[in-house]
Amino acid sequence: MDTIKREEIVNLFKDNVKELIGSDVRIKGWVRTKRGNKNVSFIALNDGSTINNIQIVAELTNFDETLMKKITTGACIRVDGKLVESMGQGQNVELQAKEIELYGEADPNTYPLQKKGHSLEFLREIAHLRPRTNTFGAVLRIRHNMAFAIHKYFNDRGFFYWNSPLITASDCEGAGEMFQVTTLNLDNVPLKDDKKADYNQDFFGKSTFLTVSGQLEGELGAMSLGKIYTFGPTFRAENSNTPRHLAEFWMIEPEMAFYDITDNMDLAEDFIKYLVQYALDNCKDDIEFLNKMYDNELINRLQFVVSHSFVRLPYTKAIDILLESKHKFDVPVSWGMDLQSEHERFLVEQHFKCPVILTDYPKEIKAFYMKQNEDGKTVRAMDVLFPEIGEIIGGSEREESFEKLTKRMKELDMKEENYSWYLDTRRFGAAPHSGFGLGFERLLLFVTGMANIRDVIPFPRFPKNATF
Ligand code: 4AD
Ligand code: MG
Repeated sequence: MDTIKREEIVNLFKDNVKELIGSDVRIKGWVRTKRGNKNVSFIALNDGSTINNIQIVAELTNFDETLMKKITTGACIRVDGKLVESMGQGQNVELQAKEIELYGEADPNTYPLQKKGHSLEFLREIAHLRPRTNTFGAVLRIRHNMAFAIHKYFNDRGFFYWNSPLITASDCEGAGEMFQVTTLNLDNVPLKDDKKADYNQDFFGKSTFLTVSGQLEGELGAMSLGKIYTFGPTFRAENSNTPRHLAEFWMIEPEMAFYDITDNMDLAEDFIKYLVQYALDNCKDDIEFLNKMYDNELINRLQFVVSHSFVRLPYTKAIDILLESKHKFDVPVSWGMDLQSEHERFLVEQHFKCPVILTDYPKEIKAFYMKQNEDGKTVRAMDVLFPEIGEIIGGSEREESFEKLTKRMKELDMKEENYSWYLDTRRFGAAPHSGFGLGFERLLLFVTGMANIRDVIPFPRFPKNATF
């Protein structure tokens, strides 16, 4: 049967599968379960192309007993057989096996993914195998679809994909949470006369770090190509052991010349709604699975977001609402504070019951590059807050005035000479402009309904963990 065409299992769940009924097809995949009796085995096979398994029916008289014994959960096989309509529930077709080849066994005594449902905590410890489960298959297919939709959204609207460097000498957010990149021998660091490390001898001739954001270089893109977006990994050495923080996460950062804060908010809202709608339209099986298994409100929440306008209000008004509320917060509320997740979630989930965009934050809690308001106290920042998650987007209109920007940098003790290349955007042809950053994994938390950010990326990086 060498000439049989291999079908991916996803194709056997499409409407036009009817054309294949009665013919021979070849399927390759990993065994999810095997059950049956002394006459017949039913094998559920999955090849990763879909959440759905195809059922293989093997009459035992046709197959070698030792071969059949080795077909256990996790084993990889090829099956040639006749595709027939299925009597069983929940599937349209099944395969009557004619020939089975065993590619790889999976010893039932040592293969960790046996039939029973595993906890997400346990699966995190075997992150190299967890993509073979229904849950992670679903999450990672959605992750792919969202990445594709992000490029499509921007490409369709005339944005250019722009690659900011990952290794950098500047701290965009100014929070000092950067991983150092060095080739110096840490057991024998060359020292200068003042006993400090001599970075002149380091690979780049200066101290360098993994970037926390591609924005500063992204602004150079916007000042030349007009509208750009980055989509790449970013790194933060913040010691946050929370279900919403990773040390290595992916960020999407659009940056647009001639956009003010309102244009920026409009883009952010339209962008998120597009992505959620794209997931509803293109990841139906996987989202329905997650809705059934983990979170019965998931689909309702997704539909709610695409069909409602986000509330927009200034930080100062949000503080008033929090102060007037009877709610008891762990961290007490006062003007000037950085809002905690509990405050953000109160506004979104209990007060407005809707996604919220907060603007005009105190300048002390925001980065140096944000446009300063006339009041001298606040900046034209915008954070998009989502149910269950809190902050999903952070952005702002940028300060385009060279004088105001360098004055702020001085206040923050930033060395102007380290940012001379960045300041050239304000020296030469400065323009009003805006941008924001969407945390890719925070978006995925929302779209999949998963509760922990470590479960929406294949190999999470967090404090004391860099296995796999
Ligand atoms: O608010 P942040 O720090 O903003 C910036 O980095 C700006 N330079 C973006 C810009 O204007 N171009 O981060 C942006 C988003 C957050 O809203 C959050 O969704 C996500 O990045 N994020 C994280 N996601 C996972 N783990 C972490 N440790 C994150 N830190 C931020
Ligand atoms: Mg932020």
